[in-house]
Parts: sequence; structure tokens; C-alpha cells
Amino acid sequence: MFAKTFISTLMSAISNCSLYSKEHVSVENLTKKSLDTLNGLLTERESLEIMVVEDHLVVNKTPARNMGHHGTSFIKRLKRKGISRIDFLKGVTYAELRQFIADLSDPESELKPYPHIKTGIIDVRTSKYKIKGDGEVLTSEQVERVKEIYHSISPYRRISVSGLEEIVVNFIVTFKREANILKLISPVKAYSEYTYTHATNVAILSMFQAESLGARDDLLHDIGIAALLHDVGKLFISKDILEKKGKLDKKEWEEIKLHTLHGARYLAKIDGLTQLAPIAALEHHLRYDCKGYPSLNAGERKQHFCSQIIATSDFFDALRSRRPYKRDWQIQEIIALMKEGSGTEFNPFLVDNFSRALMKALQHEGGPSSGGGIPA
Ligand SMILES: [Fe+2]
Ligand SMILES: [Fe+2]
Repeated sequence: MFAKTFISTLMSAISNCSLYSKEHVSVENLTKKSLDTLNGLLTERESLEIMVVEDHLVVNKTPARNMGHHGTSFIKRLKRKGISRIDFLKGVTYAELRQFIADLSDPESELKPYPHIKTGIIDVRTSKYKIKGDGEVLTSEQVERVKEIYHSISPYRRISVSGLEEIVVNFIVTFKREANILKLISPVKAYSEYTYTHATNVAILSMFQAESLGARDDLLHDIGIAALLHDVGKLFISKDILEKKGKLDKKEWEEIKLHTLHGARYLAKIDGLTQLAPIAALEHHLRYDCKGYPSLNAGERKQHFCSQIIATSDFFDALRSRRPYKRDWQIQEIIALMKEGSGTEFNPFLVDNFSRALMKALQHEGGPSSGGGIPA
């Protein structure tokens, strides 16, 4: 990872600079090396964005793991200067970078304005995803953020991709600190909240599954965004049908099914959005055995692995959530149903992995017999 090399070299330059001076040959060499790596990173993008979220480095909206002691020292240096965000813009010069290194290495020195290096305070809402002492980990503000995004969607308006990225980065930071996945999913408090709460929960559950399977951060990030948007097509379905209390007739049911196509069509037009988003919107009701909907030349289209992950989370959260016409399913009942659909509706490997994680979470909460203490 080039960003890791850049931060390591930069940090070595900063350490050497505090030991010697900015004119020292080792500092000069390391500054040149950092600049080369940085320029390499900036060939395909306009800026390199580094944020400090609590004790983690987030590089270009993706949490950077295994940054080693250089990463830790870098965070400490930035915190001491009161900085939580640096943007390196295309065009950074050697003189600028050398001055930046010198200023960061000197505890007395103030950071100056540099033409291509912008420093400041992070603008993600750290206080809103603080973990509380016990109980609910994700606050309702998380759902509110998803709600804002959902409200901004219409056939005439494009979605805010950067807003989604911020939400997903916040999720990653939060769930990496909480081993019990059941603590991270929110209860649906009111019917009107269902869409946003469901989107949030499916995103968290899907990222959790992907992480437990060893997915890299960039994939985790894309799955999170795709999962947040999997049901976006429902916004194009009449409310009367979506919110109907009684049983749906055949025609209404056919219309509901169209949410997969509406969502995929809408998301495919959005620049800068992960390609997984329209794929998952289209395929999350397509089954592992290629049945389900929409029927796409049966047998020809296999459900994408990421859509399979999202489909498993979708099933789990839909049954778990309290809705007017559904009872609140106990976790073990849902696991049993998931297992029944293993190999037909769902990928058996995913069912196995997900149910094992859920059982572990239940035991953690005081044993499966307690019902898990799931928020109602
Ligand atoms: Fe759906
Ligand atoms: Fe869904």
C-alpha cells in the first residue's frame, strides 16, 4: 500500500528532523522519497486525504490498518498539534513538504498555511458515534444521517456519494470496536423509520459478515455503500402499496418486486458510486439457486457474492425488525429459518459463517435461552 509507505517515510523524515535539522542529508533524502511516493499516489487523484478518527488513521475514507509504529507516532504528532485532518493536494513542492516536516517535528512550531497541504479539524461527527457505557452502541443520529440521504433521493436528484462514504467510514470505525454484532443493530422504533433503520442495519450486518470473511477495507467500504442503498428502488414505488396493512394482491406484489429494477437503474446513473451498488440493488432478491426475482434469463445470471451477503443480512433484519404485520422473531428462530434456506435461497457458506457469529453474540449476552436481550 503506497499510502502506508508514504506515511512511514514521512514519519521517518519527521523523527530524523527532530533529531538533527531539516538540512540534514537523511532528512533531505527521506523528504525526497516521501515526495516521490506522494506524487505516485497523486497521479490518479487530486488529493490524498488523511484523517484521525479516535486512534485510527483513515486514508481516502478507508480505515488504514496495520500502519505499525510509524502510524501510531504519526497520530500522536498530529494530535499534539490539534490536527485531525490533512489533505495533500496535487502539486506539493519539495520546499513545502520540507517545511511541513520541520513544523511537525518541532513541538514549539505552529503549522503554517501551505499552498498544497491543508490541515485542520476533522469534519466527520465524532461525537455522534461515541460508544455509550452499555446498551445501544449506534445512536439514532446514525439512522438520521441515512434518513437525510434517503430524503435527498428523487428521480431528478443524484445521491451524495461523499455523504454515504462518511457514513460507512463511521460504521467501520464503530463496529471494529464492538465484537457483539447484536449490539450494533438498531431497533425500529416507529414504522416510518423502517426504511432508514433497515438500510443502516443491513449495511452494518453486511460489512460485519464481509469483515469476518477477511474482506479488504476497500471492499468492506463498497459493500457498506451497496447495502445502504439496496432498497433505494422502494422510493419509486407507491406509498399506498408499500405501507398497505393487509395482504398484497398479485398486481401490488408485482409492483413491489420492481423496486430491484428501479433501484439498479437509478444507481447505475450515479457517477463515482461503487458498481456494487446497482448490482446489489438488482440482485438482493435473486436467490443463491438463481430463483427469486427479478427473473433474469433463469440460470444465466448467478447472484454476485456481495449480493449474497446483502441478501442474508436483508433476510435477518427484515425478520428481526418489528413491523405492524410481523412479530419480532427470536434470533434463534431466524437462524433456523436461514439454515432451512441454506443452499437454495442462501449461500450455505455464508449462512454458516453468519449464524456462527450470531450464536457467539447471543452467548456473549447471557446464553441463547435468554433470547439475546435484543432491543425490541
Ligand atoms: Fe428489497
Ligand atoms: Fe431490504
